[in-house]
Amino acid sequence: MDIEKILAVAKRRGFFYPGAEIHKTIAGFWHYGPIGTTLKKKIENEWRNFFIKEEEFYEIEGTNIMPESVFIASGHIKGFTDPLVQCKNCKSLHRADKLIEEKAGIFVPERTSTKKIDEIIKKKKIKCPDCDGELTNTRFFNMMFKLGVGPTEQAETAYLRPETCQTIFVDFLNVYRAMRAKLPFGIAQIGRSFRNEISPRQTLLRQREFSQAEAEIFFNSDKIDEFPRFEEVKNYKLNLLTLDDKKLKKVTVADAVKKGLIKGKLIAYYLARIQQFINSLGIPLEAIRLREQTDEERPFYAKYAFDCDVKTSLGWIEVVANHYRTDYDLSSHMKASGKDLSVVENGKKIIPHVWEISQGIDRTLFCVMFHCFIEDKKRGWNWFKFPPKIIPFDCAVYPLVLKDNLPKKAKEVYEMLRKKFDVFYDESGSIGKRYARADEIGISFCVTTDYDSLKEEDCTIRDRDTTKQIRIKIQDLTKILKQLMDKEIEFEKAGKPI
Ligand code: GLY
Repeated sequence: MDIEKILAVAKRRGFFYPGAEIHKTIAGFWHYGPIGTTLKKKIENEWRNFFIKEEEFYEIEGTNIMPESVFIASGHIKGFTDPLVQCKNCKSLHRADKLIEEKAGIFVPERTSTKKIDEIIKKKKIKCPDCDGELTNTRFFNMMFKLGVGPTEQAETAYLRPETCQTIFVDFLNVYRAMRAKLPFGIAQIGRSFRNEISPRQTLLRQREFSQAEAEIFFNSDKIDEFPRFEEVKNYKLNLLTLDDKKLKKVTVADAVKKGLIKGKLIAYYLARIQQFINSLGIPLEAIRLREQTDEERPFYAKYAFDCDVKTSLGWIEVVANHYRTDYDLSSHMKASGKDLSVVENGKKIIPHVWEISQGIDRTLFCVMFHCFIEDKKRGWNWFKFPPKIIPFDCAVYPLVLKDNLPKKAKEVYEMLRKKFDVFYDESGSIGKRYARADEIGISFCVTTDYDSLKEEDCTIRDRDTTKQIRIKIQDLTKILKQLMDKEIEFEKAGKPI
């Protein structure tokens, strides 16, 4: 599918667009409009329900700016880098690994040395994409935004966080004590992260400011195979791509652990939950995979890692990074701060290990839009088949025409529904155009009041997916819409078909 079509709707209907567009925009910053903001918040709330509520994680909210010492301890000052090359002719800067990927189709893993990258550039005769000039040797560029906090003369060096989870690690002791937590337990956070990307591109997929939903699950490493909730998912099939045979296979969670494809029940459980979550957002299972990362690909803090990728016409997009961070972060912060971050379990002091779920919310939203987009020649317009729980508006309310008290009746219905649902009121243009506009942003149900409504106290509901309509009493509307949204009744049986 042509991504441009989705981008055009995204802009026209207020999903997202380049930031500060009336000025000169800086690449890698995107703003969400009203429809996109609602969609994003609903995806975040679903994540909250799926992980924080169901998994009983503790949610926190930390600052975006943290002192330099945090990032010295975490290893980001030293290791959070991307390979950079410059054109000797036009001086433009490029991210070397991505340039190689685009020009030579070779995937360059995260920890490839500058020497190796330079060899590939030479061998494949890769030149500047802007002017065909010769490129410099590669050097590593730190991707964090450095700040001076306070008046210039005394400014303290600080950084915008490059991943939300560092706030979780530095807050670990506070949460552990305040909540009287017991291993295993999770601390989660939804928030902004900042990376000074060399070549931001593909709209929401590689931004310099973006939203992450992260959960760090702290556990006793001796008990990675003692995880009661494993039983709930053991027969669920994963789309797994592991390093042993590099083939995508469908395998139950139980088999994946038994065959050693996934190292530990706790890890297998959370990989299953991630696949279930992505699938629940309207992304089909065939388009989801859990891919084990190679040694070279893994970030510096991870011993073992799986990406959860979604297939789109731009290729497989990594939407969730799942990392076994061991005790790397707690030990590093403990050493640097001098604070004891160990916990006592059965009389024994241990430093908990961490399994991390790190979801890119903007990327998820992009993939949801891609998979829910329906190109509909028959209808004559394209529309989004968003699942009910993330739809920007649950329903729309219209008067059939703008006279004879029909708008008044529609407003009454609107006021009634607004108490329970996210409702959109629209009276401009013909009813056909209003249906098209509702479909275009994925609204499931359109409620219309007409002349009969004035006499019979009833109205029509139109179903987005089939365009069929039924007639029901206004007094039953709230109840029936709720049942329809929860898929408790079939549309055509919910009222009198027309
Ligand atoms: N916290 C892991 C990541 O940002 O990828």
